[in-house]
Parts: sequence; structure tokens; C-alpha cells
Amino acid sequence: MTKALIAPSILAADFANLQRDVEMVNNSDADWFHLDVMDGVFVPNISFGMPVIEAISRHAKKPLDVHLMIVQPERYIREFALLGTDTLTVHFEASTHLHCSLQAIKTEGMKAGVALNPHTNVAVLKDTIMDIDLVCLMSVNPGFGGQSFIENTYEKVRELKKIISEKGASTKIEIDGGVTDKNAKELVLAGADVLVAGSYVFGADNPTQTVKHLKQLV
Ligand code: DX5
Ligand code: ZN
Repeated sequence: MTKALIAPSILAADFANLQRDVEMVNNSDADWFHLDVMDGVFVPNISFGMPVIEAISRHAKKPLDVHLMIVQPERYIREFALLGTDTLTVHFEASTHLHCSLQAIKTEGMKAGVALNPHTNVAVLKDTIMDIDLVCLMSVNPGFGGQSFIENTYEKVRELKKIISEKGASTKIEIDGGVTDKNAKELVLAGADVLVAGSYVFGADNPTQTVKHLKQLV
């Protein structure tokens, strides 16, 4: 089985020791940095924006996976490209012209991601799947770290995997929210390629070891 990728979510890092936590990810078995941008409108929380990502990007030695939980994400595509974003993910629910946003993300040289809230059926992506590099399935309601994993996600992963195979697409499936050593393996068996983990990693006594443990499981 190919190894799944692990993307620690910086939302759960210690913002007063951000460089230390970025170095932890650099020196761990983690694959990507997951960066959650929240605007207080699309989700009921405000996290961090461009200046913080710019600071992280100066120290990060692994790809930046930016998850925009903001309304009208198409307004900021170029800014995130200039910050060194590798994959830019917009929410399906926040995008009136999703296909257009996907093209714009690629034009700026980034990989294009689409996130789905827990209530959104994966079938809505049938017509755009060939243009999507990453689907981020939210396994909690977006807005906060530390929530419990929604069990229906396994079924969504299987359904999405089927759509991807039927269309012959090479889209990766990412799971975001409530990921721990209790569900990691089953998610990967269902078809997940990337696991985001925030509080499970940064809340651990030994985050480096915890990343290693997750990586060994998947
Ligand atoms: C939630 C964010 C997640 C969050 C995951 O809105 O999109 O990326 O950081 O945190 P945990 O792993 O603690 O559920
Ligand atoms: Zn996220």
C-alpha cells in the first residue's frame, strides 16, 4: 500500500512559538503543512491570514496546503500563489463559479483543491473532478480544531474514490478534522491519500513521535 501523506494543521500549533512548531514539522515524518484560513463569515471563527502565512513560508521546508474557509475565495488566488502555496483549496459551498476558480488557481501555478462540508454530497464534484487535484472532505464542521470525527466520512471517501476511478482522474482525497490513530488506518483503507491532523499532533506530549506513529499506521 502506498503511504498516505500526513499534514499537521498549524491551527493547533502554539502561535507564540510558531517557528519552533514549523521546525518540528520540518524535522518530522510529516509531508505537508496544512494552513487554515478562516474569515469569521464562512465559518464562525477567525484564524490567521497572509502575514502569518508569509512568516511560516520563510521557515517551512515542506509544501504548503492552504485551506480557505472564506467567502468569495476567488478574490485572493494570486496573493496565496505569491506566498508560496503549493495546493490552494476553496470550499464548494463558498464558490459560485467553482470551475472558474479552479482554472484561476492552476493559472497561478498551484494545485487546485475543493473542500466539502460534512453535509455536501461528493456527487456535486462529478463534473469537475478532472480539474481537481485534491478533494478535502471535512470530517468535522469547519471552524475549529479539536472536534470529534464524523463517522459518515468513511462512506464519503468510498463514494468519492469510485467517482475518481470511474472518470480516470488522479485527484487525491484529503481528510480534515478529528483524525487520530483510531481512524487513520481505516480512512486510508477506504481510499484517503492525505490526513490532516491538528490537535492530535500538537496536543501530544511528543508531536514528532506522534507524526511518526501516524505515518507508520497508514
Ligand atoms: C477545521 C480545520 C482543520 C483543523 C483540524 O476547520 O479545517 O484543519 O485544524 O483540527 P483537528 O485535527 O484538531 O480536528
Ligand atoms: Zn483545514
